Amino acid sequence: IESQFVPKLYMGKEVLITAGPTVERIDPVRYLSNDSSGKMGVALAEVARDMGARVTLVHGPLQVPVPDGVTAIPVESSEEMLREVTSRFELLDLVVKSAAVADYRPKNVYSEKHKKVHGPLTIELEETTDILKTLGEQKTHQVLVGFAAETERLEEHAAAKLKRKNVDFLVANDVSGSDIGFGADDNEVVLFSGDGSILKLPKQSKKELAFELLTYFKEAVR
Ligand code: CTP
Ligand code: CA
Repeated sequence: IESQFVPKLYMGKEVLITAGPTVERIDPVRYLSNDSSGKMGVALAEVARDMGARVTLVHGPLQVPVPDGVTAIPVESSEEMLREVTSRFELLDLVVKSAAVADYRPKNVYSEKHKKVHGPLTIELEETTDILKTLGEQKTHQVLVGFAAETERLEEHAAAKLKRKNVDFLVANDVSGSDIGFGADDNEVVLFSGDGSILKLPKQSKKELAFELLTYFKEAVR
């Protein structure tokens, strides 16, 4: 839909979206990351803006531009993303964590470019902080939305994540196929709500999907 015809359901609301991959440094020129394009998060930011919200987008490297009128906070690591999101959390009405946050990061980061003369290299990985779970523990009035990428037993895994992270909604992606999800322009998801309801949303553009999802989330925003 054209932005001027979008219902202004989010007038006066503060929305924060995270998007894209995180980048976990090994040394100054090498890192671990993933294939997230950031398209879903950017679509959510754009549509939330069109729906009247003040939108902050905390993002790793994106394959699409940040929409006009959205406050962009670029970050690299999961640790930076955690900081930028938690420091703003109190003032927010809705947080949508569509970023593909790294689960692991190198335990030791070399301050200089690692040299081959040292021979074979073993990189020890440690777990990153779960940003969504941290927010779930801190939340008061905020509506919290997580994403989940699953390749098997989607319903079981998604329902478990919803509970474990204390979120209001979980948007589950079946990433076992390849024409939806990472990098694609379309997406097909299942929306799990805290009240136990499950809604399958048909395959559609990420922008159309963003509009549908934000309309559902609004029901829970005070
Ligand atoms: N997430 C997060 N911080 C992390 C890892 C994930 O905030 N360190 C968030 C993601 O942004 C997403 C949700 O948690 O909204 C679910 O991510 P997902 O990778 O599906 O689940 P995990 O809990 O990381 O479990 P696993 O990867 O083992 O399935
Ligand atoms: Ca993960």
